[in-house]
Amino acid sequence: MQLPAPFPASRPRRLRRDAFTRALVREHRLHANDLILPVFVHEGENRVEPVASMPGVSRLSLDRLIPVAKECVALGIPVIALFPVIDASLKTPDGIEATNPNGLVPRVVRALKEQVPELGVLTDVALDPYTSHGQDGVLDEAGYILNDRTVELLRQQALVQAGAGVDIVAPSDMMDGRIGAIRQALEEGAHIHTRIMAYSAKYASAFYGPFRDAVGSRSNLGKADKKTYQMDPGNSDEALREVGLDLAEGADMVMVKPGLPYLDIVRRVKDEFRVPTFAYQVSGEYAMVKAAAANGWLDHDAVMLESLLAFKRAGADGILTYFALEAARLLKDA
Ligand code: PBG
Repeated sequence: MQLPAPFPASRPRRLRRDAFTRALVREHRLHANDLILPVFVHEGENRVEPVASMPGVSRLSLDRLIPVAKECVALGIPVIALFPVIDASLKTPDGIEATNPNGLVPRVVRALKEQVPELGVLTDVALDPYTSHGQDGVLDEAGYILNDRTVELLRQQALVQAGAGVDIVAPSDMMDGRIGAIRQALEEGAHIHTRIMAYSAKYASAFYGPFRDAVGSRSNLGKADKKTYQMDPGNSDEALREVGLDLAEGADMVMVKPGLPYLDIVRRVKDEFRVPTFAYQVSGEYAMVKAAAANGWLDHDAVMLESLLAFKRAGADGILTYFALEAARLLKDA
């Protein structure tokens, strides 16, 4: 890099002096198009159930989700990500309900694509909302998550979602080889347009706690963890290997998760691969900002927008965030 001329020829504060100069030289900007809104859906009608550990987020029945989807379109949010809250009576050790073509997710996808066709719909491919033990896969007698048997179920789950018309499938399970298996199944099923956004570098993180409350998997999971399949937070090179594998297997887009504590990974992935790269600002990150703001310790809106801009600066092309609606409303007024 060319070294700047020494002071006083260089006075960096010149470019910070007025709002117009700051706007002129700003390198990164946040736009509603950068945001993906994760939503929690459950059965029934006119049902809105607040998630205690995620203030401002509720589990919604389909009829209550439709107006949210329409607001996303109005605000310029391109995609919503669906997470189902599955009735406890349908949860089994193998999570087979995930492959039911008339299950909650396929029904919601069909309704959204019919009623709000302009909005992109993304579905999570993973078994944890459907398993009685809360893990993302099938267990052997010792409680180890079986890779290849799980991939077979994920393949069927992705096919069912594609059959319902989903735009993007997002495998979040971290089994080995699942992107290749899903891509092959989609091609063979003539779903050649279905995009895969791979949760490539997904860490075994404590920041997912509130999400597990929201989908009701925390109590099923109990004291167990996901460390035999999700990545170790101490690793960084491994994230590049995971991204490389997922791209080789047919991913169109990759994701790093969680978000702010893993911006170094976002930057490395973007620099190394130059592919559409997304970050997930997860439930625990959202809860921290909400809690601090509720106590008057942080300026909610300022912290929200600054944290989202930080993802862009780190190289993310888009952000999955529970703040999407609030942020997009502010960006619209700005
Ligand atoms: C499930 C899944 C999780 C999240 C997204 N998909 C939880 C987990 O892996 O336990 C977390 C999202 C969040 O915390 O906001 N495969």
